[in-house]
Amino acid sequence: MSRPVTMEKVANLAKRRGFAFQSSEIYGGLASCWDYGPIGVELKRNVKEHGWRSMERQRDDVSGIDCYILMHPRVWEASGHIAGFTDPMVDCKKCKARFRADKLADSNCPEKPSKRPGECGGELTDARQFNLMFKTFMGPVEDDAAVVFMRPETAQGMFVNFLNVANSARRKIPFGIAQIGKSFRNEITPGNFLFRTREFEQMEMEYFVKPGDDDRWFEYWVQERFEWYAKHGIKRERLRLRPHEPDELAHYAKGCADVEYEFPFGWSELEGIANRADFDLKQHSEYSGKDLSYYDEETKERFLPYVIEPAAGADRATLAFLVDAYDEEEVEGETRAILRFHPRMAPVKVAVLPLMRKEGQPEKAREIYDLLRQSWVVQYDQAGSIGRRYRRQDEIGTPFGVTVDHQTMADGTVTLRDRDTMQQDRMTIERMMDELRKRIEA
Ligand code: GAP
Repeated sequence: MSRPVTMEKVANLAKRRGFAFQSSEIYGGLASCWDYGPIGVELKRNVKEHGWRSMERQRDDVSGIDCYILMHPRVWEASGHIAGFTDPMVDCKKCKARFRADKLADSNCPEKPSKRPGECGGELTDARQFNLMFKTFMGPVEDDAAVVFMRPETAQGMFVNFLNVANSARRKIPFGIAQIGKSFRNEITPGNFLFRTREFEQMEMEYFVKPGDDDRWFEYWVQERFEWYAKHGIKRERLRLRPHEPDELAHYAKGCADVEYEFPFGWSELEGIANRADFDLKQHSEYSGKDLSYYDEETKERFLPYVIEPAAGADRATLAFLVDAYDEEEVEGETRAILRFHPRMAPVKVAVLPLMRKEGQPEKAREIYDLLRQSWVVQYDQAGSIGRRYRRQDEIGTPFGVTVDHQTMADGTVTLRDRDTMQQDRMTIERMMDELRKRIEA
């Protein structure tokens, strides 16, 4: 069945209802940079919160860290980013636009958008390698010795802190180190709204295992991470796993599989799970001169652990949750957008609506609002007809509505409305709290 969703509809709704705005919009915008609005910030927080819960807080074998964005420049030599974190790039000699040489078939000439680069009368330069790391200077002197990089991945923070975490948290292998934080890549062709941007947040975990146990743990994490998206509401039929072909594996990887989502622009990577073998700890041992091997007390063996890495993007996942939730309804001859988020991911969990602005209903509704706000993100709305207010909530994906009416004032009961079934049940406030807890936190 065809889906009503397009990237254009999602981007329009995102702006209208406060999910995301173009950065610096009043100055004409900064390409491919986005600011999250009041509703979007809650959605992304939910993505990160539930990512962190499943990857760190609810596990006995994973510790979290939060590293600096700037790292010692040698880190990026050891990791291979200075030499190899490049894309092939060509310039148009006529309009000076820059394109990825391996993606010309997907690019358009900015001056003649119906033409591919090079087919528009402009001549392209030969391809050259372009490093994707953003550079800056640390300290007052802008010379080569002061160059530092904005990290292009959070992963290296976990590798260089491997022994710090193992020792301070008294970890035994197998164990993981998780981190959520910003990364920066000077992408040549960013695009598709939040999908590929130059500043983004990653949710990564490095899971250290004994060599020989790595294939088993790789399979385990591939399944875990695939299920995470389905469990949090993404439709299974829009998710798939794609193992990498040997010729597309990164230089550090022994194996890799992507969790992909079917976006309106096609199947695309949400997250990669890689078996990085001992590449990183070996490189950092060599470049730093510090021995990063692990001593196993039980077997009396010393070895460099292998690493299984699930690497997800918080912004890309936020986009996937948004796109997947998008639906439309025909109401009285009018097409209306409705976001069917899983209650766990919904930015606003409950709307509290007094039916009328009299009889003390607004005051009672505010009391309930204050009660609910102690647990969840809740909106209070008394403006306009009740139908119109439900529509506004449907459009930002609020799964539950609590209405205060004439009967509330008589017997203290309220109605609880479910966004998807539109069923309304009358109940006491105590039961409403239990029901909400059950349905939101299930
Ligand atoms: N440490 C391994 C690593 O960084 P990656 O496949 O380059 O692997 C992991 O990135 C995830 O980070 C991607 O699957 C994607 O979700 C997210 N990501 C990478 N580049 C991105 C970009 N330019 N914009 C938004 N998200 C990005």
